Amino acid sequence: MASKKIILGVTGSIAAYKSALLIRLLVKNGHEVQCVATEDALQFIGGITLSTLSKKSLITSLKKDNDWTNHVSNALWADLMLIAPATLNTIGKAANGICDNALLAMYFSAKCPVYWAPAMDLDMYKHPSNQKNIHSLIEIGNQLIFPEEGELASGLYGVGRMAEPENILSFLNL
Ligand SMILES: Cc1cc2nc3c(=O)[nH]c(=O)nc-3n(C[C@H](O)[C@H](O)[C@H](O)COP(=O)(O)O)c2cc1C
Repeated sequence: MASKKIILGVTGSIAAYKSALLIRLLVKNGHEVQCVATEDALQFIGGITLSTLSKKSLITSLKKDNDWTNHVSNALWADLMLIAPATLNTIGKAANGICDNALLAMYFSAKCPVYWAPAMDLDMYKHPSNQKNIHSLIEIGNQLIFPEEGELASGLYGVGRMAEPENILSFLNL
C-alpha cells in the first residue's frame, strides 16, 4: 500500500479519544499523519498524545510565537484530509465559509480529497441545519464517513457515534 500524507483534524467531541487509535493505525500502516486540533478538541484529548502518536508537532493555532503556522503549505502537503471526529460546530463553519482556526484554514487551503467523520448526539446529527451543512460539503466534493448506530455519550441510542477507526481505514482504503 502506498504511503499517504494525511492531515487529521480533531475537533471537540467526546469521540476525540478515538483519534489516538486512528493515528496509531495509520502510522502502523506506513502513513504520515499531521494532526491539527481545535482549541476545544484539547479539552477531550491531550496534545501530547496526538503529537507523540503522530511523531509530528501538533498544530493548534495559526500563530506560533512571533511566527505563523503555514496552513497553506501544510494543506498542500497532504494527499488526504480527514476530520475525525467532526463536530456539528466545525462542519457548520466549513460549510459556511467560516475560517477562525488552524483546522479550518487548512481545510479551506486544501486541494486534496476531504473526508468528514461526524460524531454527535442523534438529534444534533439529524438537525436540519446540520444535514443542510453536510449536504453542502458533499455537493462541493467532500465525502462523508457515516456515523454509526449505538449508545451515545448522552445515554441515548441512535445514529451519531463516530465510525470506528478500523471502519474509517477500510472506507479510505488505508
Ligand atoms: C462533554 C461534551 C461532549 C461533547 N460532544 C460533542 C460531540 O460529540 N459532537 C459535537 O458536535 N459537539 C460536542 N460537544 C460540543 C462541542 O464541544 C462544542 O460545540 C465546541 O464548540 C466545538 O468546537 P470545535 O468544533 O471548534 O472543536 C460536546 C461538549 C461537551 C461539553
